[in-house]
Amino acid sequence: MIDTHSHILPGVDDGARTLQQSIEMIKMAHKNGVQSMFATPHYIQYEGYNEVKDNTKIFKWLESALKEENIDIDIYMGHEIFITPDIVTLIEEEKVATLNGSRYVLIELPMFDVPKFTEDIIYALRIKGYVPIIAHPERNKKIIDDPNILYHLIHLGALTQLNLSSIGGYYGQDVKNTAQILAKYDMIHFAGSDVHSLNPKPMLVEALVTQLTQLIGHQRVNEIISHNPQAIIKDSALAVREAKQYRQISAIKRLYNLLLSGL
Ligand SMILES: [Fe+2]
Repeated sequence: MIDTHSHILPGVDDGARTLQQSIEMIKMAHKNGVQSMFATPHYIQYEGYNEVKDNTKIFKWLESALKEENIDIDIYMGHEIFITPDIVTLIEEEKVATLNGSRYVLIELPMFDVPKFTEDIIYALRIKGYVPIIAHPERNKKIIDDPNILYHLIHLGALTQLNLSSIGGYYGQDVKNTAQILAKYDMIHFAGSDVHSLNPKPMLVEALVTQLTQLIGHQRVNEIISHNPQAIIKDSALAVREAKQYRQISAIKRLYNLLLSGL
């Protein structure tokens, strides 16, 4: 499993507090079948968050500590960038990190909104050769209400990252339902733990991957947790399954299907 979203850098944001805690979190990930992890600390413009140059030093410190501890896991640098109209400039000025310096950029939407300029940002990034990855869309209130908002953003050129623990119900039933819909309709391309602490729940990767496999099958899960994120590591182009538009099944159709399955 390649974990494309985590807060493992020590003392940087609301993630790991100390180097020791970072190491414990990474050990926990490794035990749960994670082979590679992207460190994606938050970046919110004008809020005093660490820029690339600050995080690089801390990242190298963590990397050498992992080597000393003989923990066989690869870590890569990135940022979880809160969406702003200035995102292209922030990348070009090297204030924010793309994922492992690749064309892929992890972007966070507000919890309760999909700003109007989101479409323009996706377009501006694609024109410049970047590929936006929308972090945990299943947690966004607008997308919960209408999953096809995400379908539309994918058609504009965005990819998406699921928090695996959403499938396990960690964020509640609405988020779980939405995660299932997005996965079933091929609107998910990557997965992450979004781990912030030693709380083991987001890190129960094997169990969560099993739940996801029951839902969409081994091949599609393998694309999400292994094949697709390898393209980030290699900075190579990625062809993904075509997302399907979500169509809500009516109560009558559901009842009909239920009766049919009982025959
Ligand atoms: Fe995060």
